[in-house]
Amino acid sequence: MTALASFRLDGARTLVTGASRGIGKAVAVALAQAGADLALSARTSAALKETARLVAEEGRTVALVPGDLAEPGAADAVVDDAAAQLGGLDVVVHNAGILSSRPDGSPTMDTLQDSDQDDWNRVLSVNLNATAALCRRAHRHLVASPRAAVVLMSSLAGVVGTPRMEAYAASKAAQISLARSLAVGWARAGIRVNALCPGWTRTDMTAFAYSTGPLSDWLMAHVPLGRWAEPHEVACAALYLASPAASYLTGQALVLDGGAGVPDGGLAGIPKPPSPFAA
Ligand SMILES: NC(=O)c1ccc[n+]([C@@H]2O[C@H](COP(=O)([O-])OP(=O)(O)OC[C@H]3O[C@@H](n4cnc5c(N)ncnc54)[C@H](OP(=O)(O)O)[C@@H]3O)[C@@H](O)[C@H]2O)c1
Repeated sequence: MTALASFRLDGARTLVTGASRGIGKAVAVALAQAGADLALSARTSAALKETARLVAEEGRTVALVPGDLAEPGAADAVVDDAAAQLGGLDVVVHNAGILSSRPDGSPTMDTLQDSDQDDWNRVLSVNLNATAALCRRAHRHLVASPRAAVVLMSSLAGVVGTPRMEAYAASKAAQISLARSLAVGWARAGIRVNALCPGWTRTDMTAFAYSTGPLSDWLMAHVPLGRWAEPHEVACAALYLASPAASYLTGQALVLDGGAGVPDGGLAGIPKPPSPFAA
């Protein structure tokens, strides 16, 4: 196989969660372009249909497996439905995730001491509990595959200290830990498991930040590349982790953050605007 061909996923039966928009939508399209057949999951069927249209345009088989991963039993149903419709599973990209939010859905950046336990439980239930449930159920399908790979969409927030996003950061750090444990536990079954840790990426999730000039300027001052990531840039890394190009890579957390998580000791001299969080 040539190096370039090893990035292909021809015929790989693939579940992508959170595929209705943002990073998950870009991942679904990228994997379809690489030849994967896809089962697409999220809560919103109408939006999933648009992703399905893009996958079908690439000439690939596509199935819809909607579900609310906050609901008990939903992960099992999504995984089994995907495997039934695709005839098995080779790849799972578990990407669905949420930030802390107010009852109307708008994101919060409250400190832990200003947030409540219900919010913590809501974030952990979608970001971590559903991850465990999904991986547990996927194992029985992946173990039958000769090319099994799992990609958990974690975050830079799971790698560095992230005040004002403590629940989110803890859930994303736990996903990295789960990826490491499963990678080692499932290696002899031929199942690779890795985490992907994007930094600030331009999606609905972060619209509250990139559409607010001072907040965006402040955040980007901490990104050495000086800009937001686009979803397709994250999708390229997900394709790498899912594909035979990464056949000897397991138990890793790939950080894709424009350098934001790299300590510079202050020597890079990148100017910082006034903090929007200053008292
Ligand atoms: N954007 C960033 O800067 C960034 C950085 C690092 C990591 N990430 C991670 O990347 C992943 C995707 O983020 P994104 O920025 O693309 O977010 P997004 O635009 O808000 O998309 C989130 C996706 O998850 C689905 N989802 C949310 N809650 C769900 C639930 N209870 N059950 C099933 N599906 C659910 C959403 O679909 P429905 O609403 O239709 O259910 C949507 O498809 C997340 O895990 C996020 O933590 C994002």
